[in-house]
Amino acid sequence: MTPKSSREIRQGFLDYFKKHDHLIIEGSSVVPKDDPSLLFINAGMAPLKPYFLGHKTPKNKKMANVQPCIRTNDIADVGDRHHLTMFEMLGSWSIGDYYKTKAVELAYGLLVDVLGFDVNRLYASVYAGNKDLGLAPDEESYAAWEKVGIKRDRIVMLGEDNFWSAGDTGPCGPCTEVFYDTGDAFGEAYKPGSEFDTSKRYIEIWNAGVFMELNRKKDGSYEKLPFKSVDTGSGLERMSMVMNGVDTVYETDLFAPLMAHAKAAYKNLSETDYRIMADHMRASCFILSSGVICSNEGQGYIPRRLLRKCMASVYRSGESLTRLTEFYDEVVALLGEAYPELVRQKDQILFNLKQEVSEFEPVIKAGIKIFNERLEGLDSKEIKGHLAFDLVSTHGLPLEVISSLAAARGYKVDQAGYERAFKQHQDTSRVLSGAMKGSSEDRDRIRERIKGAPKTAFSGFDAISSKAKVLYVMDEKGQGDSLSKGETGYLVTDSTVFYAESGGQVGDKGEGSLEGGRFTILDTQKHDEVFLHKILVQEGQVAAGAAVSLSVAEKDRQRTTKNHSATHLLHAALRLHLGKNVTQKGSYVDAGKLRFDFQHPKAVTPSELLAVENTVNEWIFRGIKNDTQEMSMEQAIEKGAMALFNENYGDTVRVVQFGDASTELCGGCHVADTSQIGVFSIQSESSVAKGIRRIEAITEKTALHEMQKARSVLKEASELLGVKQDGIKEAIAKLKKQLKEKQKKASKGAGAGPAFTRENSSDISGRRLLVALSDQDKTQIFEAAKKAMSEGPYDVVVVATQAEKNSLFVFVEKKAAKKMTANDILKSTLGPLDGRGGGKPHFAQGGFNQSLSAEALMASLVTSVTESMEACGG
Ligand code: SER
Repeated sequence: MTPKSSREIRQGFLDYFKKHDHLIIEGSSVVPKDDPSLLFINAGMAPLKPYFLGHKTPKNKKMANVQPCIRTNDIADVGDRHHLTMFEMLGSWSIGDYYKTKAVELAYGLLVDVLGFDVNRLYASVYAGNKDLGLAPDEESYAAWEKVGIKRDRIVMLGEDNFWSAGDTGPCGPCTEVFYDTGDAFGEAYKPGSEFDTSKRYIEIWNAGVFMELNRKKDGSYEKLPFKSVDTGSGLERMSMVMNGVDTVYETDLFAPLMAHAKAAYKNLSETDYRIMADHMRASCFILSSGVICSNEGQGYIPRRLLRKCMASVYRSGESLTRLTEFYDEVVALLGEAYPELVRQKDQILFNLKQEVSEFEPVIKAGIKIFNERLEGLDSKEIKGHLAFDLVSTHGLPLEVISSLAAARGYKVDQAGYERAFKQHQDTSRVLSGAMKGSSEDRDRIRERIKGAPKTAFSGFDAISSKAKVLYVMDEKGQGDSLSKGETGYLVTDSTVFYAESGGQVGDKGEGSLEGGRFTILDTQKHDEVFLHKILVQEGQVAAGAAVSLSVAEKDRQRTTKNHSATHLLHAALRLHLGKNVTQKGSYVDAGKLRFDFQHPKAVTPSELLAVENTVNEWIFRGIKNDTQEMSMEQAIEKGAMALFNENYGDTVRVVQFGDASTELCGGCHVADTSQIGVFSIQSESSVAKGIRRIEAITEKTALHEMQKARSVLKEASELLGVKQDGIKEAIAKLKKQLKEKQKKASKGAGAGPAFTRENSSDISGRRLLVALSDQDKTQIFEAAKKAMSEGPYDVVVVATQAEKNSLFVFVEKKAAKKMTANDILKSTLGPLDGRGGGKPHFAQGGFNQSLSAEALMASLVTSVTESMEACGG
């Protein structure tokens, strides 16, 4: 075998399949789109599932690519010879084209004829069959391997190891895999009949074919797929390891520079620590390059977990944690060319890395302290799953760090319990998206009905009314063929002027008519490229074949269009004033307002908001022309277009450009000239989650009306106070002062007035909790809380006031504070309220930015305090 660089292997693989008539397709982002069954893309086939299921037809039935994959299941094994969190999968596919024999021939041809593998070191595993699934032993693959030249005693029949599926549901089937014999140094040689060791001596280098013929459904049963396909995949890193005759993936050209950097930068760590660091930093940069941001849940939890593990090692080495960001340059030097997103998303990646580092330093110190305190309260030597998970997710200690700290003190972590808690958390935090509302059964039925429907031709950018032919009609459950007066359901036509919800812009509403009937269009959604008009029949009956006239509600569409263009300007202005780390995290645009969510570490200050608002309005007043063009993704990127990297934009993209102000990839409706937006007014700025801010704004007439309303409020206020408008502030301050003095006098005179305006008491795991709201001052709150603790008698009292400043006080009874500290409880409440604070085990206080109604504040406090107390076991 001639040693080859990873670059040569990557290219050689693609060239080989291209030569054999496969279309080379782009890899996807590691973040799955519309696939709630996966946290991350874990195989090259994952983004192609609709092809295997027959829901979509590929341009070419034979395809190949290189797909970065994340396998969170393998994280625990990282550090051995060849398991990795992120790897590059070389994949090839036949979608209903060739099957087993040809797949084996292609695999052999590449490995032996092109890459020069020694055939005597190759082993093939073949599926032994499963009666329950109706699958016989895979004789065809067996015969094919024999025919190409693999001796019988190197072909191994295996059971469930050779049945592959991407997740709990979806396309799956038996597979045949190729293993490389890494030699006597790594274990006993295989003898037919003995066990085949797939983890040490024999290394899987290619899953040379998953023979997709089944679809696993949600209830665990299987159905036959409409046609048979082949899905192959090979890890580039392992292939490089074997081809270069090195013992671990860390010695390959894909990892050696990362290992060298780790060893030079951090002393006194073990080989395993360095390997973990190289893998984890590489995977983190990759995940962050796809727009994920570090958080405590879902996808964002993975880079956080990986980074914190690295930071714990750095902490042990005594080096400064901030040096970890140096890994970014190393990763880019290795992979920046193959994955330009790593370069384009530099700001986003470094921003997240720095933020994690600055947050973790105090966390690790405090976390170790809390860990020690928790251990005090345990009555056995086992750290239960929920406690371990709480230490991980709330206190940020990596599980691995907890396990080793525990072992040092003779404790054990309940790993299975931890996994359960983690899984439960993951399941609830995955965002299940779906364009169509309704139950998943209804959605599946609707999808099935429109499977063969042609892509709907959209002509609504230039027109708002059109004629069309009805192709399908069904009720909201996807049943029936016609809808009569008073019924609601979906209508699919060959063409439409109705915009279907996407890219944050809501679906159009409007009217439709046909001979002898008319209907209201309540909403427009799309599934893939097929538009579904949600209709309510007003008169007559609608059925397939009918000729209909469709007309969009013009005013709503115009307002929505203005708001959508204003959203683009807002995005650009935010990046201008706050920096390039501002990345869009979501948007919602309808006729009434626009909402824009973006990543930014802190609240946008009033002066920044003013600058942003002014810039957007200047662009509006300048009347910048809209220049919308279709082009290739490369051209769009060259133009500097802003794109959401979690979106699949297709081969040609639509670029919406307003001069030098804004350039974005977008499929939505936009004004021809920015002056049509009229005026732009920011209504609010708030926090949606840690590190994510939300701006809501209005435009044109809505903005004008809002300003008029504000003017009349001011006028009335000045009349009521009897002062000029610029004297209002002073007059109110004076009144407030007088009121406070009066209240003080009154409360002194009448003993204590009611200290709490709202109260909620409960029993949490045997501890008594009082959550209360107050509008008194700090001293009075202290007195009242003390009284409640002694007379109540409560173990935990949490009091919030929004009277002058938003403040929060947590009191914990001294004994109870050994198990749960006031500080912990305070922290759990401040997250959702966007606050800060701290304190001692029995008393903590903080301030918060969110202004909520009394009900909402109470609900938020009760939920977070209860959860926090439950996590401590009461
Ligand atoms: N999807 C299969 C695997 O990951 C083949 O690529 O092993």
